[in-house]
Amino acid sequence: MHHPVISATGLFTPADSITNAELVASFNAFVERHNAANAAAIEAGEMAALEPSSVEFIEKASGIQARHVVDKASVLDPDTMCPRLPERGNDELSIMAEIGVAAARQALERAGRDPADVDAVLCAASNMQRAYPAMAIEIQHELGIEGFGFDMNVACSSATFGIQTAADYIRAGNAKSVLVVSPEITSGHLNWRDRDSHFIFGDVATAVLVEDVELAPAEHWDILGTKLKTVFSNNIRNNFGFLNRTAPETRDTADKLFVQEGRKVFKEVVPMVATMICEEADRLGIDPASLRRLWLHQANAGMNRLIAQRVLGHEASADESPTVLDTYANTSSAGSIIAFHKHSDDLESGDVGLICSFGAGYSAGTVFVRKAA
Ligand code: COA
Repeated sequence: MHHPVISATGLFTPADSITNAELVASFNAFVERHNAANAAAIEAGEMAALEPSSVEFIEKASGIQARHVVDKASVLDPDTMCPRLPERGNDELSIMAEIGVAAARQALERAGRDPADVDAVLCAASNMQRAYPAMAIEIQHELGIEGFGFDMNVACSSATFGIQTAADYIRAGNAKSVLVVSPEITSGHLNWRDRDSHFIFGDVATAVLVEDVELAPAEHWDILGTKLKTVFSNNIRNNFGFLNRTAPETRDTADKLFVQEGRKVFKEVVPMVATMICEEADRLGIDPASLRRLWLHQANAGMNRLIAQRVLGHEASADESPTVLDTYANTSSAGSIIAFHKHSDDLESGDVGLICSFGAGYSAGTVFVRKAA
């Protein structure tokens, strides 16, 4: 019987980081300019003045203190407020593939795995840089992997959906070693001019090597069970797509970036995810209170506090439910994998934990793991 395990993970972190103070200074400069340029209309009551952002609000509402980005200067420039990456030729490695490859190489190295022994690459992320060829195939090519690759997008849940897909290939005997790569350049789909959400996201890339236990290194994580769930909701949405390229001046572009009803998301997703975790733990014969660590999706400190409390039955300590929100912010599908990557080495053989994602769709995924060493 084939049994899927996590052999290793990898992480690529962009060198540049933006503090809340830097972000708010840039946002407030934009607000001042906007209000000055539209002073007459605001005065006449034809337009509402924009409100400034605040460091205190951001930290209190989200737990975020900084975020890494691939292009700090253009994000902070009040005239651009979005990444402006030089276009690369078709014969150059794309930026998404580049950061995905960096994370993947680290995972392969940590597992002592030769790329020639990997069967498939899944690029699982909330946005793809282009329609085709698949990012996964470019990553596969750059790493020198034979076999196949394809892209999948389930927003913030992409990585856990990728892990279950990889685990299913292994369970079915269709592959022995699968790389799940999540390059998240979220700065490209965040509306940096939207006060309600301009602080939420950061850029990063993660990789998870899912393998048959027969091939895996002695130290690995047994995958005890995976579960996926989706429920349609418009409360987190991004309408950017290949059908809306015409006449940009005739349409409102704000909904072609990330938009959300943050309060509704908070209220609806917390119970959905907590219930899903407890039901799946029950199905696997695991007492949720006995979970040694929760590596939760990193969207918001308050959501994680509530979910962890419902699952464990008590307020979780930083050791039980570690956060990376302070330095990485929300990195979409990569968040729970960063938490796992950075906060799992200290666990002991036999310890059971949970990797869990949730986000747009709505979507949620659970991966229960047990350390083997
Ligand atoms: N700076 C200062 N004040 C701000 C602000 C900012 N950047 N953004 C909003 N505010 C103000 C609002 O105007 C509002 O003021 P009011 O009460 O006078 O009307 C107040 O702060 C509360 O705004 P609200 O948007 O309701 O904040 P919140 O407490 O719900 O927190 C989120 C906002 C997004 C952090 C929170 O809803 C959340 O975490 N939701 C979970 C969803 C999530 O993280 N999704 C990510 C994708 S998975």
